[in-house]
Amino acid sequence: MFENLSQLPDDPILGLMVAFREDRNPNKIDLGVGVYKTEQGETPVLKSVKQAERELLEQEKTKLYIGPAGAPEFTSAIEKLVLGDNHPALASQRVSTLQTPGGSGALRVAAELAKKGNPNATIWVGNPTWGNHIPLLSDAGLQIKTYPYYDVASHGVDFDAMMETLAQAKAGDLVLLHGCCHNPSGADLSPQQWQAVTELASQQGFTPFIDIAYQGFGTGIDEDAYGVRLMAEHLPELLIASSCSKNFGIYRERVGSVLALSKNSTQAQACSSQLARIVRGIYSMPPSHGAAVVARILQNDTLRQQWLDELNTMRERIFSLRGQLLEQLTAKGANSDFSFITQQSGMFSFLDINPEQVQRLRNEFSIYMTGDSRINVAGVNRDNIDYLSSAIASVL
Ligand code: LMR
Repeated sequence: MFENLSQLPDDPILGLMVAFREDRNPNKIDLGVGVYKTEQGETPVLKSVKQAERELLEQEKTKLYIGPAGAPEFTSAIEKLVLGDNHPALASQRVSTLQTPGGSGALRVAAELAKKGNPNATIWVGNPTWGNHIPLLSDAGLQIKTYPYYDVASHGVDFDAMMETLAQAKAGDLVLLHGCCHNPSGADLSPQQWQAVTELASQQGFTPFIDIAYQGFGTGIDEDAYGVRLMAEHLPELLIASSCSKNFGIYRERVGSVLALSKNSTQAQACSSQLARIVRGIYSMPPSHGAAVVARILQNDTLRQQWLDELNTMRERIFSLRGQLLEQLTAKGANSDFSFITQQSGMFSFLDINPEQVQRLRNEFSIYMTGDSRINVAGVNRDNIDYLSSAIASVL
């Protein structure tokens, strides 16, 4: 049977890791995969995570199965992180939360839940979106339609076009939104725009499906959850896929969660049972370690504060790099206005250069980014910013 299978190309994002590793140019720069990097170009384990791991190693008493829904101390801590401590949706027990292997696992399990509710569900996906959204959601059997999101001319959200298209979305459809730190563009919805999309969802009856993979990397933990919390307050149904990969820096431990908001607590219980059944049929139950670390951090005041401080440091460093990059590009005489880089938020921005220019940066300068010119701003540092800015200016 395997003779029917052909060789597939490398993943457009993950493939960059391998290509970068194999590049022998000492000046090479990795602006590819969305992971945080320090000034030294490292992605270290956070101190709060190390401390929680030490405690866990000492105190863990069993390796028993944790069950398809995951650890209750993790899911209840995540509900509060995503929705806030006193969200009315939590008080009315309308939220079903399940621990998943990473944010991608959350997206897949949430998509499976939607398909159980509506086997013909269509999901409206912004153009552009994270490179893995469409493969992942269509593999789960959802029909894909797209809506315009990013406007190259203004380097911002094409909100009128987005709303015009989403006026066609109807009850039974899903609309994928990025909770914050839009991947790949860095262009986020404003609070007013979140309100307008919430009203449209209410009028049209579609179900928003929010991917929040970078909570804390935009403006702050609570600020970045504005849209999620607003929609959870005003809409009858909502799907949320949350990830701890970036904000806890525990990428390889695979920690995420699905939060499904239902009309009432009876439906929420039904959703919980369906989610558990879906998971049982795919991977049975999630891995424990990373989620146990996250739960420990969120439940302990000292560790939580240490983690928040570390998260703030990561966010502020990226923010400052945006300013430095703009300054250097201007100093190098880049004949294009890059001021939008400082107006966008999170790990990513598009350089809005063409694929040939992206290829030249890779071939001639060993500078790696995705083909659509998305850069991981965290890959910039004091040592490479000069070389990077000169290289960009020279291919414009
Ligand atoms: C990214 O967008 O680079 C990250 O989310 C990593 C990934 O899995 O694609």
